Parts: sequence; C-alpha cells; structure tokens
Amino acid sequence: MLVTMGVPKLVLYIMKYIVTGGAGFIGSHITDALISQGHQVAVIDDLSSGKKDRFNPKAEFHQLDIVDLAAIDPIFQGVDGVFHVAAKARIQPSFKDPDAYFRTNVIGTRNVLMAAKQHGVKRVIYSASSSAYGPVDQLPLQEDFKVPSQSLHPYGSTKRMGEMLMRDLGKVTGGPETVCLRYFNVYGPRQTNTADGAYATVVGIFLDFLKEGKPLTIVPSGHQRRDFTWVGDVANANLLAMNSLKVGSGEIINIGGGKNYSIWDVAKLILQVPLGTAPEELLASSKCVLAPERMGEVAETLADVSTAKKLLDWEPKVNFADGIKSLL
Ligand SMILES: NC(=O)c1ccc[n+]([C@@H]2O[C@H](COP(=O)([O-])OP(=O)(O)OC[C@H]3O[C@@H](n4cnc5c(N)ncnc54)[C@H](O)[C@@H]3O)[C@@H](O)[C@H]2O)c1
Repeated sequence: MLVTMGVPKLVLYIMKYIVTGGAGFIGSHITDALISQGHQVAVIDDLSSGKKDRFNPKAEFHQLDIVDLAAIDPIFQGVDGVFHVAAKARIQPSFKDPDAYFRTNVIGTRNVLMAAKQHGVKRVIYSASSSAYGPVDQLPLQEDFKVPSQSLHPYGSTKRMGEMLMRDLGKVTGGPETVCLRYFNVYGPRQTNTADGAYATVVGIFLDFLKEGKPLTIVPSGHQRRDFTWVGDVANANLLAMNSLKVGSGEIINIGGGKNYSIWDVAKLILQVPLGTAPEELLASSKCVLAPERMGEVAETLADVSTAKKLLDWEPKVNFADGIKSLL
C-alpha cells in the first residue's frame, strides 16, 4: 500500500508482514520495529515459550502452531514478507526432546516456506543460529567455513536444516527469496530469565540472581567465550535484510557483536567489578559459584560481521558493556 503524507515528497510504503514467534524475545523486538515504521504485522505464535504481554498489541495475533500448515496458510494471503523467528530455541532442552525440535524447527520451517510460496510472498528472513558452526578451530567465524558434518546438539542440527530449507524451498525452486541471519548470543530487554527454566540464557539468569542477591552460577570453567549481540541490532539486521537488493538467494549472514567475552567477564560486568578481578576472588566472596558442566558447549564464538556490512550495510551499534549497563 502506498500512502502519501500531505507533503508530496514524504512517501511511505506500508507493507504487510508476518512475524512467526512474535511473542518471543527477538520476534517481539522485530514486531515493535515494524510497527514503529507504520507497517501491518501479523504474529503467529503458539505461546510455548513466548508471552502474550511481550507482543505488540498493535499487531494482529494468531495463537497457532507452525506445524499445522492448514491453520497458518490463510494468514499468508496478501503478505509481502515473513520474518521466520519461531523455533524451539535453546540447546539444553533439545537433548531431552529432540523430536519436538525437529517438528517445530524443521517441519514448521518447511510449512512457513510452503505457505509463503503458495501465496507469492516475496521474501522470508530466517532466524538462524551461530550454533551451526559447531566446534571449529579458526576464529573469527566466517560464513563460508567448512563446518563439522554433525552438530553438537539436536538444536544445532535443526537450525542448520532450516538454513538448507531456506535455500532448497526458496527462489531456486520457485519459492520466495530467502536470507539466513546467524545470530550470536542475543541479549537485551525481554530476554528469557530464570522464570523460563531451561530456556533461560546467561545474561538473563545473572541479572535475576543479582536482583535476588544470589551468587552468579558459572558453568566451568567460565573461560568459554561468547560473542554477544544487542537485540535491537538484531531487529535492525532483519529489517535491512528484508529490503536489501543484494540478497534473496538463501545467503547466510553472521549477525554478531564482533567481540567476545568470557562468562567470567559477563559476571564481572553484571557485578560491576573491574574486568581484571580474579575469578578466585569472586568465588571466595561468594559473589559467584561454580555449576556442573553442560553438554554441547563450544569453547569460543566470535563473528566476522563483514558480510553483513557488505550485503546489508549493517554493523553492531551497541557494545556489550554499554548494553549490560542499560539493563542493570
Ligand atoms: N536468543 C538467542 O541468543 C538466539 C541465538 C541464535 C539464534 N536464535 C534464534 O532466534 C529465534 C528466536 O529466539 P528467542 O531467543 O527469541 O526465543 P523465544 O523462545 O523467546 O522465541 C521463540 C518464539 O517462538 C514461539 N514458538 C515456538 N514454537 C512454536 C511453534 N511450533 N509454533 C508457533 N510459535 C512457536 C515461542 O512461543 C516463542 O514466542 C529462534 O529461531 C532461535 O533459534 C536465538
């Protein structure tokens, strides 16, 4: 739809978008960004981990499971683009119920692409994951690295299968244009926290523990390093990917902060102690305690974000220390 705003030069294209998973952490920020630009948004979310109070009330809401193609199909009528964010989105629970991960992350993704093709949707942006890289020796991680033939966990396998579907059911076979954005540890307002149980992520857990006066739990050794990405930067990457003329053929693009921090560093930033503080000091003062090791963890992630700059004109805007400070 084309709307002119009084002044002849100010022309606004109002698009209709679907955000799957729009009641979740990242999907709700993408929805907010689209609504703030004046677009129409339909959210499809089964509320399995999302929350009704997270999604923007100006969006149309459909509480549906993406595994049910017949139910979601009519919503794609007249839609210009889809942000496919819905997924079972954490590593540890995927060891307990791999089939649920397969159904949502693979069959559900296939359904989104089938419905998009059926209704002539122009482009689908896929929320992919840095877990696709698995344990590779070389850093920073670049999109054209050869990745191990097997993932470290069912979650990673299903997210990789999603990327393959974006290509195979995309433009090359008459489907929509597609783009895969590989996010690196996303954090920010509305992130999952201790109330989300096994779905919680490290920054959300640490902030809750700080508030409750509990010691921060460091999964040994705490020296594993992660690249953290501000959720607003991730939402912005999605909007740019929807509009960039340089993509659409299933490209895989890293979306990361471009710097990495150890889990000890995260704890120190949240506890507001100098980064030079020795971990032993934090353990001795009971500000931190060690927690049991977990399966499926890689030693280090760090994104090379030059492809995002080249294809989307995107770069991370919020550095990790500032982002954490804003959440305290
Ligand atoms: N958070 C991160 O650090 C991170 C990193 C890399 C990739 N990702 C990807 O980003 C996406 C969003 O992650 P998030 O952190 O916002 O997780 P989230 O759990 O907050 O959001 C996922 C949303 O999808 C919905 N959903 C799940 N299964 C569904 C189904 N079958 N049908 C309809 N809706 C369903 C949930 O209710 C939830 O609202 C996921 O695809 C995830 O794999 C996240």
